[in-house]
Amino acid sequence: MSATWLKNAIFYEIYPQSFYDSNNDGIGDINGITVKLDYIKSLGCNAIWINPCFDSPFKDAGYDVRDYKKVAPRYGTNDDLVKLFEKAHEMDMHVLLDLVAGHTSEEHPWFLESSKAERNEYSDRYIWTDFCFGNADDLPYIGGECERNGTYVLNFFKCQPALNYGFLNVTKPWQKPMNDPAVIATREALKDIMRFWLDLGCDGFRVDMASSLVKHDDDKKSGTSAIWHDIRRMLECEYPEAAMVAEWSDPGLSLRAGYDTDFYLNVTGNGYSTLVRDYENHENEDHSYFKKDAGGNINRFLDEYMDWYEDTKDIGYISLFTCNHDTIRPRYNMDYRELKLFYAFLFTMPGVPFLYYGDEIGMRYQQLPTKEGGYFRTGSRTPMQWDEGKNLGFSGADGDELYLPVDPSSDAPTVSSQEKDEDSLLNTVRRILALRTDHEDLQSDAKLTFICTEPDRPLVYQRGSLFVAINPRGVKSSLKKELPIGEKLFEIGDAFYDKGELTLAPQSFGVYKSSEG
Ligand code: NOJ
Repeated sequence: MSATWLKNAIFYEIYPQSFYDSNNDGIGDINGITVKLDYIKSLGCNAIWINPCFDSPFKDAGYDVRDYKKVAPRYGTNDDLVKLFEKAHEMDMHVLLDLVAGHTSEEHPWFLESSKAERNEYSDRYIWTDFCFGNADDLPYIGGECERNGTYVLNFFKCQPALNYGFLNVTKPWQKPMNDPAVIATREALKDIMRFWLDLGCDGFRVDMASSLVKHDDDKKSGTSAIWHDIRRMLECEYPEAAMVAEWSDPGLSLRAGYDTDFYLNVTGNGYSTLVRDYENHENEDHSYFKKDAGGNINRFLDEYMDWYEDTKDIGYISLFTCNHDTIRPRYNMDYRELKLFYAFLFTMPGVPFLYYGDEIGMRYQQLPTKEGGYFRTGSRTPMQWDEGKNLGFSGADGDELYLPVDPSSDAPTVSSQEKDEDSLLNTVRRILALRTDHEDLQSDAKLTFICTEPDRPLVYQRGSLFVAINPRGVKSSLKKELPIGEKLFEIGDAFYDKGELTLAPQSFGVYKSSEG
């Protein structure tokens, strides 16, 4: 771990298309982010992660990069991004860019060169078989598109050919070992992109599909990990405060590979999904832990999380998020009170938390046709809802020119309406984040110990010297136990400790100092 600023970082994730349109062309832009930094800071977030904002044909919302070193014209210019870095730093904030390490767009100049019949510098930048009908040894591939006599391997969608970082064990003549000069050139090209943006002032990267680099890797991902180690060594020498955030969801591997933090992604049936979206396997009956009357069990989350936490707490962080651009917003199945308790939990846990734009006001998931390869994800990518004005304050363009439509409902939540309400989700998020900021014991590093996880009792845990208690259920819940619980620092609802008994009113939350000083 190297980026010391992560100790108290709270991130805000921005899907640039939909955050704020500063020039009224219907799509969000970099300057729009810059003018809204004050708002982000007012939430209590001190860092942002911007989804890919580079030149792209946008067949996967920018995760298909055509030029890694150029801001997409629809978002502005490289100078705009540099100004954003500068303004953020003046405000003591940090900015992460999204590094799409495993693949490019099929329109990237490297790929166009690589697909030519005659050999050239980029012939091996991607993974090609040696025959136009050749299958790619169980990897997904495309044939018949290029003049080169071969098929090429994909990393995700059809538009995203896999960059060539080599094979752990070579079994076919067309596969390259990890130490092949052409394969090493891919890794060096990635470092070059990283240096380019770090030199311009970015503070690190969220790395897309970080585990996907080396093909036919082993269970421990030793090939891919060796590459990230090498990159970490470069960062340690040249940019010691750069942060690396993995999209990997296996912190035991990613943190040992040199990452600072790894997302606990919401995957159907995993621990995280049981917090907010535990219904896929229950014929639509919702058993989510934070759903008021669902009877969910926190141990379904903790069984996985605590194994990861115990294994990695001394080497890095786990990042919990409200949701992200790939998942359904939590407001889909949860009301404001349920969201308050869910967020209170997320933001009092260890590691580096992420708040997805709009979740602080409970923006809804919209049923929409796919846009830019979003499919079901499109509904979580709609414009930020700032106020009650035109396009809910997102853009001055005409409605039909918007990147995506704004929430059409008459009660669409907005920042301005929630600012006026002391008890709104927005103001509750602000209070919770202020609490985290004021107490090192609630930040990334402080030790986590669970005191009560019994399904019918309040969930009680200790962070450093502070006690946290949550009752997400619609009925009162209590725990008789002598605990050194002292002054109450924060509550939602009514949550108190008296005469050896912790009592939490329905759907309540409390944070307390230790009485032992
Ligand atoms: C993960 C990203 O979060 C997602 O949006 C994208 O489609 C894939 N990786 C492919 O890059």
